[in-house]
Amino acid sequence: NDPRFDFSSKADAQSTFTTRSILAVPLKARENVIGVLEAINKIGEGQFTSTDCELLSVLGDQAAVAVQNALLFQQSDLIAEIVHEMRTPLNSVIAYADLMQRPTVTLDQTRQFAAIIQSEAKRIVEMTNNFLDLARLESGRASLAHSPVDVVTVVHMSVNVVHAQAEERQITLSIEVPSTPLMVMGDAQRLHQVLLNLLSNAIKYCRPGDQVRVVARRDDTWVLVSVADTGPGIPPDALPSIFERFYRVPGTEKAFAGTGLGLTIAHQIIEAHGGEITVESQLGEGTTFTFRIPASRYTE
Ligand SMILES: Nc1ncnc2c1ncn2[C@@H]1O[C@H](COP(=O)(O)OP(=O)(O)OP(=O)(O)O)[C@@H](O)[C@H]1O
Ligand SMILES: [Mg+2]
Repeated sequence: NDPRFDFSSKADAQSTFTTRSILAVPLKARENVIGVLEAINKIGEGQFTSTDCELLSVLGDQAAVAVQNALLFQQSDLIAEIVHEMRTPLNSVIAYADLMQRPTVTLDQTRQFAAIIQSEAKRIVEMTNNFLDLARLESGRASLAHSPVDVVTVVHMSVNVVHAQAEERQITLSIEVPSTPLMVMGDAQRLHQVLLNLLSNAIKYCRPGDQVRVVARRDDTWVLVSVADTGPGIPPDALPSIFERFYRVPGTEKAFAGTGLGLTIAHQIIEAHGGEITVESQLGEGTTFTFRIPASRYTE
């Protein structure tokens, strides 16, 4: 009685006939079942025969191959984009390594170039990690833990990580959480990653003097967490694209280092938890990202 597979009642409502018989075959890619192909009612009279069953199986196999191919296309797009993105830092590593080998280079310059090479190489590593994360999440290969997680603890941990960074940039960080745990079922490490992505964005895009506030609470069904900042805001026409991979608000590309994968990863992780992430922003006033995850009955 899985509601995901309840097509027949909808089909009955939309058409004039009632379901008398259903033939279903699994869609298999390698050894994994990735979906179901169903045929409802045989034209005329009678039940499905073994020939029908064979025919539908063949169709099912072909449909499974098509679905797999579509996924591969999507992945090769991702690969093309990441290779393109990595070219810039790689080229600058090559250029600075080249400069370091010139006979006229001073010791000071050598140090300076080495520092640039180091930071560009770090960016490449970060990009590679993000890319692998996203590829795993998008293909469904990422196995997320499904354990009780206290979101309040995750908030405290994440804020601790970025605290020094915020201070250095003269940004005030504050949190508002209940004194009791907020339990959800999920993957603590992944949720930590979501909060870090949202917090590091807030800190990265805010200006000195700005404020960042993290609020965690629950209602009847959800645990909600928001990260609100008083930063520059996101233009309304950019909001619909904000969770797309590699999307960066025009203008930010030049001012801040980044790949445009952080929010895509956050979005994927929250969806994998059966939740939702949304953004509200007012240009010049600030931005608030909010995610919600089904509250666990653990606490009741
Ligand atoms: N709090 C914020 N305030 C203003 N703009 C933001 C904020 N968070 C995100 N953005 C905009 O959304 C874009 C996408 O964010 P995202 O985190 O996905 O990528 P990124 O920060 O550019 O790179 P990275 O992959 O390193 O996270 C950013 O480039 C920035 O333009
Ligand atoms: Mg980011």
